[in-house]
Amino acid sequence: MFIGSMKVQFLFCIAAALLVAAYGEEDDNDGARLLVAKLIHNKYLVENMDVIVKYTVYNTGNAAALEVEITDNSFDPDNFAHMSGELNARIDRVPPNTNVTHTVVVRPRKPGYFNFTSAEVLYRRKEDAPRLQVADSSEPGLAYFTSYKEYDKKFSSHVVDWAAFAVMTLPSLAIPFALWFSSKRKYEKLSRNTKKH
Ligand SMILES: *[C@@H]1O[C@H](CO)[C@@H](O)[C@H](O)[C@H]1NC(C)=O
Ligand SMILES: *[C@@H]1O[C@H](CO)[C@@H](O)[C@H](O)[C@H]1NC(C)=O
Repeated sequence: MFIGSMKVQFLFCIAAALLVAAYGEEDDNDGARLLVAKLIHNKYLVENMDVIVKYTVYNTGNAAALEVEITDNSFDPDNFAHMSGELNARIDRVPPNTNVTHTVVVRPRKPGYFNFTSAEVLYRRKEDAPRLQVADSSEPGLAYFTSYKEYDKKFSSHVVDWAAFAVMTLPSLAIPFALWFSSKRKYEKLSRNTKKH
């Protein structure tokens, strides 16, 4: 019982952290209900390099969401070059219990802090819904774009780190090989000896 409620709380926390629910309607249990996560899929955020933004639309409702439209106005052309993926995407239909993802690639024009905010989502909760439902995606939040120069310097030093790592791991690879090699030689010697006798 206790564990059960902990689990529910845990799931709720995950849902609250990653996803933002649609605004409430009169009848919450009827029709589609979309949770939209906006996530940045990058290890490094660097000036003039691709930033991969993924929108995952998950329908937790009991009907297909129709005329789904994701609009992200947060990448203004002064600060971002738009590389691929629609900033205003249309998905005709998201069936219940289904995830649909949409990807956008942008490149920040300058280094510095940037607050990734939410995208707006519009959809119809069921075929005969009189008006569109409005929802917000989650917001990735504050991020920092490294200057290309800084990144290049760091990356070069990483290469040095890797070289050091490779040198350091060599002995540990060399020892088992030496053991195997000497035991193989011993075994060969032994079999040679037995052949002679
Ligand atoms: C859809 O995505 C959510 C959140 O990432 C996940 O919890 C759920 O299991 C996924 N459902 C399906 C049917 O893939
Ligand atoms: C980022 O933007 C959101 C939405 O406008 C705001 O609530 C939040 O406080 C901002 N975060 C920072 C660190 O500025």
